[in-house]
Amino acid sequence: MNAAAPQPKENMGAPLPRIDGRLKVTGQATYPADLPAANVAYGALATSSIARGRVTALHLDNARAVPGVLDIVTYGDMDAVDKPKFGNTAAASIAPLHDRKVFHDGQIIALVVAETFEAAEEAALLIRADYAEEKPSAGFDSPGATTVAAAGKSPMFKEDVKSGDFDAAYGAAPVRIDARYSTPTQHHNPIELFSTTAMWQGDQLTIHEPSQNVTGWKAELARQLKIDPGKVRIVSPYIGGAFGSKGPMTARTAIVAVAARRLGRPVRCVVSRMQAFGTQTYRAETRHRIRMGADKDGRITAFAHEGWEVTSRPDPYVVGGTSATGRMYDYGAVLTQVSLVQADRNTPGYMRSPPETPYVYALENAMDEMAVALAMDPVEFRRVNEPKAEPIGRKPFSSRSLMQCYDQAADAFGWAKRDAKVGSMHDGDWLIGMGCATAIYPTSSAPCAARVWLTVDGDVRVQSGSHEIGTGVRTVAGQMAAERLGVAMDRVSVEMGDSTLPPAPVSGGSISTASVCSAVLKACDAIRTKLFAAAIGEGGPLAGAHNEELDILDGKIIGKGGASAKVEDVLKTLRVGAIEEYAEYAPKGASPEALKKLYAGQPEFHGGEQDEDSVKYAFGAEFVEVRINRLTREIRVPRIVGAFAAGRIMNTRTARSQLMGGMIWGIGQALHEATEVDSRYARYVNRDLQDYLVPVNADIKDLQVILVPEIDREVNPAGVKGLGELGNVGTAAAVASAVYHATGKRIRDLPIRIEQLIA
Ligand code: MOS
Repeated sequence: MNAAAPQPKENMGAPLPRIDGRLKVTGQATYPADLPAANVAYGALATSSIARGRVTALHLDNARAVPGVLDIVTYGDMDAVDKPKFGNTAAASIAPLHDRKVFHDGQIIALVVAETFEAAEEAALLIRADYAEEKPSAGFDSPGATTVAAAGKSPMFKEDVKSGDFDAAYGAAPVRIDARYSTPTQHHNPIELFSTTAMWQGDQLTIHEPSQNVTGWKAELARQLKIDPGKVRIVSPYIGGAFGSKGPMTARTAIVAVAARRLGRPVRCVVSRMQAFGTQTYRAETRHRIRMGADKDGRITAFAHEGWEVTSRPDPYVVGGTSATGRMYDYGAVLTQVSLVQADRNTPGYMRSPPETPYVYALENAMDEMAVALAMDPVEFRRVNEPKAEPIGRKPFSSRSLMQCYDQAADAFGWAKRDAKVGSMHDGDWLIGMGCATAIYPTSSAPCAARVWLTVDGDVRVQSGSHEIGTGVRTVAGQMAAERLGVAMDRVSVEMGDSTLPPAPVSGGSISTASVCSAVLKACDAIRTKLFAAAIGEGGPLAGAHNEELDILDGKIIGKGGASAKVEDVLKTLRVGAIEEYAEYAPKGASPEALKKLYAGQPEFHGGEQDEDSVKYAFGAEFVEVRINRLTREIRVPRIVGAFAAGRIMNTRTARSQLMGGMIWGIGQALHEATEVDSRYARYVNRDLQDYLVPVNADIKDLQVILVPEIDREVNPAGVKGLGELGNVGTAAAVASAVYHATGKRIRDLPIRIEQLIA
């Protein structure tokens, strides 16, 4: 019952520091590869130097001759295990050691295992392969790349959304734009390197690996290894950055597990940053064409969004953000189409925020172009096109505080002081530009289980197999329990990141806080029910009181008129040391098999645009000031203000941190980040943090986050929308709009760099 949702005043939770904050900043939060492991052997990957063809021979003698080398796992050694199944749980169907076929540059051709990391590395570098090489297609515009419609081709993509007659509406519109945008290849570069440590005890396998999906990986790895999932444990208590990169399991995990079984010793493989570019997932490059028509009053009458995304040959990975962009404003007619371009590349994957970051970049850039074409203020243009219902299915929004976000952010930013005339604002040699854009992210949740204990000593213990990927979910799950059970946070402990815990869904799609807190809330409410029944029952300390009058605070059950009873005493009447409750949350609309699927590691997502009753999104508005040097064209972002509404905010500190990080990443996407692809070899060129640019402290100046209060009782029992992926949506478009305002140059291809502003 949503009515049970705790919705305190302002809907803002306390800004408590993260439970694991001190551990993380003092280096005591141990990443899986740092865990002491007795008798561990070290693995190093050898990878292909071609992007397309076959391995005809492998020369291993030089590698085997390196002192300390114990084993080399390569072709033939994986035959007894099953191939990965591409989907949400496994990153790619490419089974590198099952097949001598090479699908992409940097594909695994062997795993060397040695007594030391150094020996393994050296030996891996000495492996030579002979290839039957074919000319690869690198991506867009490469001969041989194949373009196919995403709809019907990819299980990840539901449909191209449409409404009304776009061609007629566009043809009749007095004001029109037709523009193309692009975003580059981007690679995950978390501080923590990717790693797998595999340990067998008899037939029981434990994997220590940073993971956003311990339950899903348990199931998929067991399937690949053809063993009972009950024999597999995935452990991942602390993670040094994930953002989607540790969501689906890669082929490496099973290879390391096989190596450890063969050797009869634990094997640890830490992937070099350079090799991660080819063996992990990444955000593929995207292209967009947007056509928009409006009437003279600025009402959008027609909107078409076509998107193209690069993927690998075997796997139809697609992000497809048109389900959100097609519903953003009150468009009139809508037409969308997403296409895949299959090339000789590794399979892409989720990267915060998978569909919205590139697709909303294109949409919001187009919105600014249209506002300019209409000579309207871009904020007012969005206000005029605020929808009462989304334009595809005509469903209401569960809540939509977009214009509140715009108004609060505009106010804090000082938008009113902006001179709309392009190139009109200066400070010495610096051209000043100001721009804004909308952030949107779908609100979903998935089935989730949690176990909670309340002990006679007043301690609370919470378990859920979710993942602390840096969002603060461990802390907010504790806060939910502390609040519902009336204890202070320092009495609460929270366990996560282990597949032996009650299952939680993959920590992706910004669902964790909503899903985990809804499950914890349910468990706590079951504890309250038991406690209250005992307190008011015959012989209980509050006998005769009514359930709905009761609350718990500071270890006491409080009744009407100041009557109270200690939790401790009630537990004693029950003759137990603790009340333990196990709860399973399932979202509204979940299928009858939803819980079974949760335990099997296949959680159903509900929310976003899928629900019958309403569409559910979190919103934000971001305002950016850029300064561009008149002479050098150097681009700076001295100021960024974002206001966000995301239902109940469990913890204003962790929420602010997520949104801040997102906006910083957004600045990086606007100005820095891009993987350069050598089109001759379909090879990534800048495979390290020296050449793969991300923002550093000096790039980020004044950054303000405003949390706009919002109550949404429809989204889930916790009232939480989730915001991990909201902050970086829209930022790049706001920067591009500000660059236009400063210079009159409309840069449609990210990242925006000096060279595009010269001439
Ligand atoms: Mo996110 S890209 O769903 O971890």
